[in-house]
Amino acid sequence: MSPDPIDAPPAPAKGRAPNNRTLTLSDAERAALRPRLLRSEEVSCGKVPEGALICGDTFDVLPRLPAGFVDLLIVDPPYNLTKKFGPETFRERASSDYESWLESWLTESKRLLAPQASLYVCGDWRSSGSLQRCLERHFHIQNRITWEREKGRGAMRNFKNASEDIWFCTMNPEAYYFDVESVKLRRRVLAPYREGGQPKDWEETPEGNHRLTHPSNLWTDLTVPFWSMPENTDHPTQKPEKLIAKLILASSRKGGMVLDPFLGSGTTAVVAKKLGRRFVGIEREEEYLLWALKRLDRADEDATIQGYQNSVFWERNTLREQTQESADRPSPEPSVPQVRDSDALQRRLF
Ligand SMILES: C[S@@+](CC[C@H](N)C(=O)[O-])C[C@H]1O[C@@H](n2cnc3c(N)ncnc32)[C@H](O)[C@@H]1O
Repeated sequence: MSPDPIDAPPAPAKGRAPNNRTLTLSDAERAALRPRLLRSEEVSCGKVPEGALICGDTFDVLPRLPAGFVDLLIVDPPYNLTKKFGPETFRERASSDYESWLESWLTESKRLLAPQASLYVCGDWRSSGSLQRCLERHFHIQNRITWEREKGRGAMRNFKNASEDIWFCTMNPEAYYFDVESVKLRRRVLAPYREGGQPKDWEETPEGNHRLTHPSNLWTDLTVPFWSMPENTDHPTQKPEKLIAKLILASSRKGGMVLDPFLGSGTTAVVAKKLGRRFVGIEREEEYLLWALKRLDRADEDATIQGYQNSVFWERNTLREQTQESADRPSPEPSVPQVRDSDALQRRLF
């Protein structure tokens, strides 16, 4: 979640620059999409509403869902900041009160998890203490990922906040799914070492020298969605699809069930669909869910995830190389379309 001021208005739909790709909805689209949302009272106890975007308060919906159906829980809750989400405002509170609030939905979410499930919970430096205390009471904490969030304001009397955390936990540390191969990062090799004249653990290509590296818990290859990216919406705290893709690929099998109880603009559902996982999402604000439905429909036409190409995560500023490589090499996953050519700004960022 960003430290932006709470009343910052969303960019107006009208008068946007022609190359602004932020998702918009007409009233006709809203009317057509609305019947596809499930309302919390329609969630029948014990039945999995697979593929559903549920419009309602997560505290009402979670108790209606059946025990043990979730393989992967991804949670991006309101952080402990005063922040407006549509007409509702989440208010900053004492750490102990924030911890009680976390505890209230975490306990209910735990009931829904399969015995070998994993979960990821997002936070910032202010809420991370509460998150750690709360998570370790219920789960085994595997790691804390920190990602560089290059957006936000400079401060006159403090260091600018440019990072967020994601707490990675499991139900059973002896038995959980983790596919490290699927989340390796393709990096440029700065000091290429050879043995017998041959590259040692790196690849020489016309686009440069690269190595596939094991992912660490420090992620610096992400870009927060902004106006020239097709995934961008007016949601105040939207997560990058590339970030969610790492979580889903590392910690769920194809066909696995992913739940997001604070869905926002739908990023978890959209990425789950693009990567062939099942999903359920819960969100209070109807407008955000309508954006999510439009994003899900778009995924039928274009299942690309920026920064993830040919089953490999790329560093920032490599779109030219990614595009070149996909021309040279057929995708190992033919159902996922190749990355499209994009504008110059995109080229610089991915
Ligand atoms: C940090 S945002 C999630 C953003 C999301 N990851 C995305 O990429 O768009 C948290 C979301 O939780 C929603 N929310 C807050 N309290 C809620 C509640 N009690 N029930 C359902 N949704 C809630 C807010 O409306 C907001 O969209």
